[in-house]
Amino acid sequence: MTDLYAVFGNPIAHSKSPLIHAAFAAATAQDMRYEARLAPVDGFAASVHEFVAQGGKGANVTVPFKEEACRLSNRLSERAARAGAVNTLRFDGQEILGDNTDGAGLVRDITHNLGHSLTGQRILLLGAGGAARGVIAPLLAEMPAALCIANRSADKAEALAAAFADIAAVNAGNFAKIAGQCFDVVINATSASLSGQALPLPAALFAPGSLAYDMMYGRGDTPFLSQAREQGAGVLADGLGMLVEQAAEAFFVWRGVRPATTALLAELRRQLAG
Ligand code: ATR
Repeated sequence: MTDLYAVFGNPIAHSKSPLIHAAFAAATAQDMRYEARLAPVDGFAASVHEFVAQGGKGANVTVPFKEEACRLSNRLSERAARAGAVNTLRFDGQEILGDNTDGAGLVRDITHNLGHSLTGQRILLLGAGGAARGVIAPLLAEMPAALCIANRSADKAEALAAAFADIAAVNAGNFAKIAGQCFDVVINATSASLSGQALPLPAALFAPGSLAYDMMYGRGDTPFLSQAREQGAGVLADGLGMLVEQAAEAFFVWRGVRPATTALLAELRRQLAG
């Protein structure tokens, strides 16, 4: 019997996840089908339960349902509990396991695909919403020299730092607070690019050879990457690799098989440019 998987979101039509998981399934000879499902904004739980009743084995969850998926789960992985959000569900009898592979995907893209070790690095995380929260524990697990969170509203950054204080000391504040500091890795986890807005980045933020990483992706530079390029960041990367790597990690959670990602990432990059 072909196992059934899906991604739930709203909107969902442009999701690349069906294409990515179909490629993983073909490459690893897994008998599975993966589809996109549009859930009504007020009907996520009902959509998931319907899917489980139809024999669904697992699902990905995207905007705006990641926090709700956390509440829907009756067991959470440690990394999902830390993130307060779930992007991967696995259904096993009565159990709904909630996991979060976003941070692992980010770290894998940076350390493996981009070859930029995070150990001993000064990392700046821009933003203090759900996207930022999801990656903090995996970033700290890489043992950076320091992690700093800068956000438009300082109180949200400070609250986030406090939530991870038992793992490591995290500096936090608004954008003015990071003036005069410089970083080896700067990660944009704000949604400012969606509205085409530039971030108020202080001058001299990027150390020589530093990595500027935008969790967003698109054709050409994102607004953040344009800023980073102008300000002298050494290496620029968008979030396409994170998208593929979080999917690979979810695939592993479901199937116990880790798909190769290099060729698929290159193909998606070609499609995006073309
Ligand atoms: P997500 O789940 O994508 O993280 P979110 O939880 O709504 O979405 O968080 C959005 C983040 O982008 C927040 O950190 C937000 O800053 P505030 O907490 O001050 O609202 C940040 N953000 C959105 N638009 C921004 C802009 N134009 N400039 C700076 N930060 C912005």
